[in-house]
Amino acid sequence: MKIVVEKLEVWYDSTPALRSASFEISEGEMVFVIGPNGSGKSTLLKTIASIVRPKAGAVYLDGKVLSRLSPRDLGKLIAYIDPHLSRSIPTTVLDFLLTARYPHQSALSFSTPRQDLDIVEDVSKWLNISHLLDRRLDQLSSGELQRVLLARAFVQRPKVLLLDEPSAFLDLKYRLEVLDYVKKSVKASKIACLAAVHDLYLASLYADKVIVLNNGEIIAAGRGEDVLREDLIERVYRVKVSLLSINGRRVAIPLEPIKEAHYGGLT
Ligand SMILES: Nc1ncnc2c1ncn2[C@@H]1O[C@H](COP(=O)(O)OP(=O)(O)OP(=O)(O)O)[C@@H](O)[C@H]1O
Ligand SMILES: [Mg+2]
Repeated sequence: MKIVVEKLEVWYDSTPALRSASFEISEGEMVFVIGPNGSGKSTLLKTIASIVRPKAGAVYLDGKVLSRLSPRDLGKLIAYIDPHLSRSIPTTVLDFLLTARYPHQSALSFSTPRQDLDIVEDVSKWLNISHLLDRRLDQLSSGELQRVLLARAFVQRPKVLLLDEPSAFLDLKYRLEVLDYVKKSVKASKIACLAAVHDLYLASLYADKVIVLNNGEIIAAGRGEDVLREDLIERVYRVKVSLLSINGRRVAIPLEPIKEAHYGGLT
């Protein structure tokens, strides 16, 4: 499924959070959005997920305006991982994962409980959470919960995947394993994927395209090697970086914050 975002503008009360954002994501494409805290990454994901309403502009899924889709169709097509999901929902991992199948149940076309369990089993194996299915959400470690949230998104079998900091709590091995799985699934199932990340290394490894947000504005977009340049990262993040070439990819290593004349920092 193709996503077209056209001149999207989002305000919270009298403050703009996203200004005239336009871009496209093709099916099977993995796009990473980067940018400092408060630059509008989560707002962008939530607007595409229909959680936040834009003041202007539109999102199109395969040419259809998103705001005209029914809640059931949205539930079938779009998976958004809310990183702030409350752990206190009194449910087991298995029941939590099965809720992602609800939008697929209807009088005309439905999957059977057996098919739903097969999907859960398959995804759980890939994300190594099979041993956690009987646990309650509040009994999981942060990294385990993060894999469960990702699993729920894949159990939904979406066409649009919106990931907000999917790797924040994952250890080094899981970061790579989980993103390998995401990328493989995105390609195989022709999903359009948008992921907000802070880890520029992961962006340079996995992104087909990188979008840079600063103060609610897209200031650069394109292939990782073209966008993740020293000058741009220093300007946006206000840190000195060194670019290393590892296995043919350029990786930005943050060195130290740039001292601002008007701002003494923490020294
Ligand atoms: N519900 C809200 N009401 C008012 N302001 C909000 C709301 N949500 C976000 N904002 C503000 O909008 C701006 C963008 O926030 P957003 O969460 O999109 O940033 P972000 O790029 O995801 O940041 P982070 O890297 O910290 O997650 C911030 O200034 C934030 O304070
Ligand atoms: Mg955010």
